[in-house]
Amino acid sequence: MEHSRFYCHVSLILSISGLVFPVMVDSIGINYGQIANNLPTPDNVIPLVKSIGATKVKLYDADPRVLKAFANTGVEFIVGLGNEYLSKMRDPDKAQAWVKANVQAYLPATKITCITIGNEILTFNDTSLTDNLLPAMQGIQTALVNLGLDKQVSVTTAHSLAVLDVSFPPSAGSFRKDLVGSITPILNFHAKTNSPFLINAYPFFAFKSNPKQVSLDFVLFQPNQGVVDPKSNFHYDNMLFAQIDAVYSALASLGYSKLPVHISETGWPSKGDEDEVGATLENAKKYNGNLFKTICQRKGTPMRPNTDLNIYVFALFNENMKPGPTSERNYGLFKPDGSPAYSLGINGTDAISTNSTPTTAATTTTNTTPALRSPESSSTGYLSISAAVKGRWISCIGQLLFPLLLLSCLAFREAF
Ligand SMILES: *[C@@H]1O[C@H](CO)[C@@H](O)[C@H](O)[C@H]1NC(C)=O
Ligand SMILES: *[C@@H]1O[C@H](CO)[C@@H](O)[C@H](O)[C@H]1NC(C)=O
Repeated sequence: MEHSRFYCHVSLILSISGLVFPVMVDSIGINYGQIANNLPTPDNVIPLVKSIGATKVKLYDADPRVLKAFANTGVEFIVGLGNEYLSKMRDPDKAQAWVKANVQAYLPATKITCITIGNEILTFNDTSLTDNLLPAMQGIQTALVNLGLDKQVSVTTAHSLAVLDVSFPPSAGSFRKDLVGSITPILNFHAKTNSPFLINAYPFFAFKSNPKQVSLDFVLFQPNQGVVDPKSNFHYDNMLFAQIDAVYSALASLGYSKLPVHISETGWPSKGDEDEVGATLENAKKYNGNLFKTICQRKGTPMRPNTDLNIYVFALFNENMKPGPTSERNYGLFKPDGSPAYSLGINGTDAISTNSTPTTAATTTTNTTPALRSPESSSTGYLSISAAVKGRWISCIGQLLFPLLLLSCLAFREAF
């Protein structure tokens, strides 16, 4: 009898959660880089973003085509102010003009919630760039205040993990000594304006530079014995969590233990040069698949167990015009034609994505710019992705639902 009540309730919750799911996984973000000449038009990117359950998108600019296309989709945006504009933002008129044209113009239809000022500025070791960072952040913040937007839009900047000189063990995390002078006032800015500290963290780089010593299972979130931090006694079973906690330690060492940390980039390339150990399709699939599952479980790190991970996966697309090693052009979850670069290995997707059936998303491919994409590859890509949506959602629901089920079961028993 207990059982039949339970199952009745399970099916009720399953049908309800199918509707509310997009709200439940509000913590998956994706980086939408566009250093490529073959990407789908922004209209066609909307179903791809939704297919992976992402509700937050981070741009490296404030591309008007993207911001217009995503109006009224509910997707949250971080827009970027490029490194090359930093020095201009010392001028209050220019800062205000930038915010009006690139942020205010799209609100409230497009939900822009954050502006990143530059990317990985401090690790360029370029004094003039570094000196312009905080003034630019302040200039944009002042413009937001003057326009009455500071309550809904925050200002931050994204750092490379290389701002740390010690990242292991996590309890010993500390900033590069030569950067403390420029970082401290930035932390003060975050504390005053309630904005998050953003870090780009790639266990891939740690593995690539030291494949003999670093355990592949540890960096890929695969089962492994993990490591214990001798000072805190915390147990780490994956490197990303260790890196995030090293950032918390570094912040605490400067007196900013309360700042929220968001992971503005993490990911794994599916292809690399011969000397890029670990850059394979199989590893990318494991890293990102396991990362998605970890985000779905709403786990925190050992130092912040009750804080949701706030992660932006890098990246939506393989970007064919990025300079540097082959890996740089192969971080995408999707190929430019909209087909998945690989299956994320989440239950249901493999079977469904190869067995594509026409869905509504197919109609959106008719709006594409023919010059940019080959129609036949794009339509098959979109079909398989949109069909894959259901499988991924269901697997995520399964993970998220467990606490809900427990709660509702308890409530159910009380009621009877
Ligand atoms: C910047 O300086 C640091 C510390 O001196 C050094 O380790 C790093 O390689 C430099 N980075 C670049 C991009 O020059
Ligand atoms: C898929 O689901 C089955 C049973 O629910 C589970 O044993 C298996 O580990 C799952 N596979 C993945 C890749 O999540």
